[in-house]
Amino acid sequence: MKPLRHFIDTQDFTKAELLDLMSLILQIKEADKQGATPKLLQDCSLAMIFEEPSTRTRISFEVGISELGGHALYLKPGEIHLGARESIYDTAQVISRMVDVIMIRALKHETVTSFAAGATVPVINGLTNYNHPTQVVCDVVTMMEHMPAGKKLEDLNVTFIGDATNVLSSLMHICTQLGMNFTHAAPKKYQPPQAWMDIANANCAASGGSVRVTEDVVEAVRNADFIYTDLWWWVDQEDQIPERRAAFMPTYQVTMDLLKKAPAHCKFMHCLPASRGVEVTDEVMDCPQSIIYDQSENRLHTEKGLMVWLVYPRLKKPSE
Ligand code: CP
Repeated sequence: MKPLRHFIDTQDFTKAELLDLMSLILQIKEADKQGATPKLLQDCSLAMIFEEPSTRTRISFEVGISELGGHALYLKPGEIHLGARESIYDTAQVISRMVDVIMIRALKHETVTSFAAGATVPVINGLTNYNHPTQVVCDVVTMMEHMPAGKKLEDLNVTFIGDATNVLSSLMHICTQLGMNFTHAAPKKYQPPQAWMDIANANCAASGGSVRVTEDVVEAVRNADFIYTDLWWWVDQEDQIPERRAAFMPTYQVTMDLLKKAPAHCKFMHCLPASRGVEVTDEVMDCPQSIIYDQSENRLHTEKGLMVWLVYPRLKKPSE
């Protein structure tokens, strides 16, 4: 059986491994289109633990395992013991005895790392306060599908505009791991912490990519192949809305005027959910350059590829 691997952070994988995973995702997507989805996880069980609500992550994992021949258990917020009445370690040990793979969305990153430390089956990080690795694998797959003519992955210029969210952290890290040129445009107060920059800079030294952070949003989009944004505040930041709105609006809102300052082939991306009219206008969300729903659909293909990649090599064959 292949050694146990969790999917907590793209930094735990090499560039070659990430490219191998993305190639598998695209193969499974192509098989889907031909109506020939392989039932590679027949009778496998996926436990999905959520401390926060979700649309895309929940549906893509649940439909994904079902299309691969397995089934999912949705363990909604507050439904299982997770650090209350039972240690995270014990919960992870117990669930691992009953299922083949576990996806967990947690408020704190440490909950996922502690859970993985106790698990004996692959654990997939479905978003924490620090990162969102499945989202950004999906995003790079989507970029591959919308690659500008004559470019390859290492030539891509990706610009993220707005708050240094968990998606920003993962996107900055995977892009620099893969050798891309990554720019973050945000007011000083909402730029990434030094620890995130240290990882990105080390990635660039190894991959030949580049990373820069600027307050100049017009300069940031000048050569962008992809412009990406995310929410300016999350549910636990609602008391900061006036301050955050004042810091970002109008300079950092993605508008048609801003999009027109990028090359004509530039595509617009958003992990969703979006606040239409806040970090991005309706016009941009719905324009031909917007690939937001391709991104959302690719969550399904990504989760399928990821689960096969982690679980299939560990399955016992009938002859074993
Ligand atoms: N992008 C994303 O993770 O969406 P959900 O919160 O709906 O899962």
